[in-house]
Amino acid sequence: MLGTIPTILFATLAVLLVAFWRKVRRYPSGPFPLPVIGNLWSMKRWPQCFYKMGPSLGQKYGDPLTLWFGWFPIVVANDLSIIKEASVGPKRSHLAGRLQFSVGTLQKRGNEDIVFGKFGPEWEALRKVAHLAVRKYAVTEGLENLVTEVIDDIIDHSSPEEPFDLDAEMLEALHNIIGLCVFGQKYERDSEDLRTIRRINGELKLLLPKVFLIDFMPPLRLFLSRYENRSKELFDEFIALEMRLYKQARETFEPGQIRHFTDAIVAAKLEAEEEARGIAKYLTEGNLTQIVYDVFGAATPTTSQTLKWLLLYAFADEKVLARCRAEIESQIGDRQPRASDRNECPFINACILEVLRIRPVSPFSLPHLTTCDTSLAGRPIPKDTTVLFNLYSANHDPRIWEDPETFEPERFLGDEGALRKDRVAQLTTFGVGARACIGEKMAFTVMFVLFTRFLQRVESVKTRSGAPFDLEPKSSGYSCEPKPQPLTLVKFEV
Ligand code: HEM
Repeated sequence: MLGTIPTILFATLAVLLVAFWRKVRRYPSGPFPLPVIGNLWSMKRWPQCFYKMGPSLGQKYGDPLTLWFGWFPIVVANDLSIIKEASVGPKRSHLAGRLQFSVGTLQKRGNEDIVFGKFGPEWEALRKVAHLAVRKYAVTEGLENLVTEVIDDIIDHSSPEEPFDLDAEMLEALHNIIGLCVFGQKYERDSEDLRTIRRINGELKLLLPKVFLIDFMPPLRLFLSRYENRSKELFDEFIALEMRLYKQARETFEPGQIRHFTDAIVAAKLEAEEEARGIAKYLTEGNLTQIVYDVFGAATPTTSQTLKWLLLYAFADEKVLARCRAEIESQIGDRQPRASDRNECPFINACILEVLRIRPVSPFSLPHLTTCDTSLAGRPIPKDTTVLFNLYSANHDPRIWEDPETFEPERFLGDEGALRKDRVAQLTTFGVGARACIGEKMAFTVMFVLFTRFLQRVESVKTRSGAPFDLEPKSSGYSCEPKPQPLTLVKFEV
């Protein structure tokens, strides 16, 4: 009898091991995974900015490769050609699923949305409606005026004696810009809503990396559930605030008058109902509030982080700064910048593109999910596998981008000084394929107008210590953001 228990244990272990190895063989190869812990044992030796490991891992194990978070496989594609392969032809829909994060479920509250939406007709309908509304706003005069007003307000309130908190100011600028575009809501400096949003964002930033671990290793819920519960409370608080703004905007809706994004999606819903179009059934009030939330949540951190990099890179290099200023002087002068000025300012456009290349704020994009058995670069990937596209690697590939670690806007310009479309097409920062960002056009308008206005009004930005800016990203596995550094801003005398 005593001998039977070890035998049963041994046999169970053997069966589990065989099951694990059989599972491993179905995925692209990668670093050797151990049962239960997968590759976690070797990951702790990898750099914090883990996305930088892409090329060396790819060279060693091939591309795409699999990393094992315990029993949970994640396929990582690093090479631009493979990322492009996933975005065209039938592979476009094979790779168009989204990992169903617990954070997404907390946030969706039984509704459907775009960012975390399951691939299918409902996600497609919501994405279409939101994309149309966002693209419409990207070209309005209202957006240009708004961006100018918001950045002017920030510069007016700054003084060389006070530290200039780039992090807080850019986030506040984007909350105001997106808040107004989405609901028509303008925040006073330090309003209660802004303080609430800032507090919730700050706390969620610390909690979410822990909650994400539960998605990869569900048994960890036992130890991490308090973080999940707290995140739920914060999401509920944020959604309550957002619902109040949505309700206000919704109640004052008048057919034929489109004041902001909420009006545009409500109009799309009424139109679809009137014409009895198939998508009408998906445009429920619950889903509409979710897509409004998506736009608010997806637009603010990404655009504000990219703007922070843009300002740091521009003020770090006298020559780049002088060339931007010369372009503004010859093409815009002192008047308010317009989105249409972008056509006449190729160097400033090149600076924005180069910042997007060198510092993609979502270096792994967002996790995709395979919708069927498929393959990339001839390596088979089973249905329901999480796939990460390493945009940072693709943007730093020395075979495509010469001297990739150097900030060189000129690489986006041709001999005549015009933008090189072939170069722009190689940039992956907004993601690729069916799930690519819907806000690219709007982000460009906001970044162009805000950056040019900032240069019109600000003489210098320096660190308070006088040291050069630290342009290395803050340590993080999933985002690429600048390190906080105390700054001083000096504006031009008027
Ligand atoms: C510099 C600014 C921005 C960057 C770098 C950026 C980047 C990204 C990336 C990498 C993704 C994931 C793509 C994928 O899964 O393959 C994404 C998705 C998304 N972005 Fe952006 N984004 C920016 C601004 C915006 C803005 C301004 C909006 C809205 C107005 C927006 C709305 C969205 C939405 C709704 C999705 C989800 C798309 C889907 O799952 O179908 N983003 N973005």
